[in-house]
Amino acid sequence: MNSRFTNTVSRRTFLQCGASVALTTIADSRIAQADGPREIRVRTAPGAVHLIGDKNTTTDVLAYNDLVPGPTLRLKQGEPVRLIVENRMDQDTTVHWHGIRVPNAMDGVPGLTQPPIEPGQDFPYEFTPPDAGTFWYHPHANSLQQLGRGLAGVLIVEELEPVAVDRDIVWMIMDWRLKSDGRIASGFGNSMEAGMSGRVGNTATLNGRVSAGEPVRAGERIRLRLVNGALARIMALRIEGHRPIVVAIDGQPCEPHEPDGGRLILGPAMRADVVIDMQGEPGQRYRVIDNFYDDLAYELTQLAYDKAPPIDSRPADTLPDLPRNPLPEPDLVNAESHELVLQGGMMSGGMMGGGMMGGGTTNGMGGMGTSGMSRAVWAINGTSMTGDGHAGMQPLRTFKLGQSYLLTMRNETAWWHPMHFHGHSFRVLSRNGSPVPHRQWSDTVLLPPKESVDVAFVADNPGDWMLHCHVTDHQMTGLMTVLRIV
Ligand code: C2O
Ligand code: CU
Ligand code: CU
Repeated sequence: MNSRFTNTVSRRTFLQCGASVALTTIADSRIAQADGPREIRVRTAPGAVHLIGDKNTTTDVLAYNDLVPGPTLRLKQGEPVRLIVENRMDQDTTVHWHGIRVPNAMDGVPGLTQPPIEPGQDFPYEFTPPDAGTFWYHPHANSLQQLGRGLAGVLIVEELEPVAVDRDIVWMIMDWRLKSDGRIASGFGNSMEAGMSGRVGNTATLNGRVSAGEPVRAGERIRLRLVNGALARIMALRIEGHRPIVVAIDGQPCEPHEPDGGRLILGPAMRADVVIDMQGEPGQRYRVIDNFYDDLAYELTQLAYDKAPPIDSRPADTLPDLPRNPLPEPDLVNAESHELVLQGGMMSGGMMGGGMMGGGTTNGMGGMGTSGMSRAVWAINGTSMTGDGHAGMQPLRTFKLGQSYLLTMRNETAWWHPMHFHGHSFRVLSRNGSPVPHRQWSDTVLLPPKESVDVAFVADNPGDWMLHCHVTDHQMTGLMTVLRIV
């Protein structure tokens, strides 16, 4: 049964370091020829998994290779890969390799970078990942339903030299709105939610199950790859009794640092690699709490220490500093500045102006739309692009290949937005005009209500690239635009 398989895989992933992840990848892949790119097959199809309740409670999902989350794909930095996506659902799909700087034609945005993959069709994605780090993959078609019903997986690009830790583990966190019988509640695209925080669910899963505890061993050093694979839920994680050190954000290495106030804040689509020394007591348990929303705090899991005495490992004073990726450094002196103003949503003052475009748009905030059409509730610089991507999307700006850009994103709304740019990583320079400490590279930056952020990047990847909020309901209803690089 699928459910048992899922559990087995996640447990083994946990107990045997990276080894079992590699097994999963091999099982799902077929080596083409010795000299061709490595080939991996990813099949999207309906399935059923066990998420909550007793053993017999199953949830109907959409899954990659029958797994939720999908198989953790491990690629090698600089090594070409061919990912063949087989659509075995009754609806169109695409796959977006979030955070990987792929050629535009491999970016997986329907209508914009490729035709949708129709039911029964296959599509080969070919690219060579330039950066090592923690990434993920998800559909860019009917996103609320497809991502919200389970289509998401982690993609790891391994460094050329292994990083010195005792274990390298992944926590893929997903958020579900489940009914007590285990079924996924309907009501995707409810326009009231779309204008507020989006579809925040009632059940968070860790690697595809509700977790009571994750086994650790005293004394070990763990590289923990955290991925927020939720539709809308923002997370603020705190690990009792431990001091995680952030070593990478959105796949890109950063100066190792402790998170502000010990809380790791991850909006949808954001990742953090943290190194944790397991300094707890053998046999003890330590809670991992997510308290981003005051009234919705919950325990994600616990670190469950083995009774065995601490393993004695490396001198504790050295922190792994990950090798930097080959990102082009923006030239801030000659950068061209542009402003993107995020507008709309509930309780933020009035209806939006004209300039609406895209599939099924309307002016202002419609009623409780049930038609499945995306209504514009949000806008960027007065324009709303809705949906997941479609043919004929006109770029908001055209950027020059090789030029550096400074983008100021100003959030005029009353809501949080994790803003994501395809095909690039940008440096986060300042917030509300004040420089930020680590100037980290990111592909998704979280904007609190009424705040602004400045990011900079080199427009070095030609094509039409999406920039959108990764709260899926917001993206679907207008918080999306296209930047063209030629
Ligand atoms: Cu992670 Cu446009 O997406
Ligand atoms: Cu992306
Ligand atoms: Cu948003």
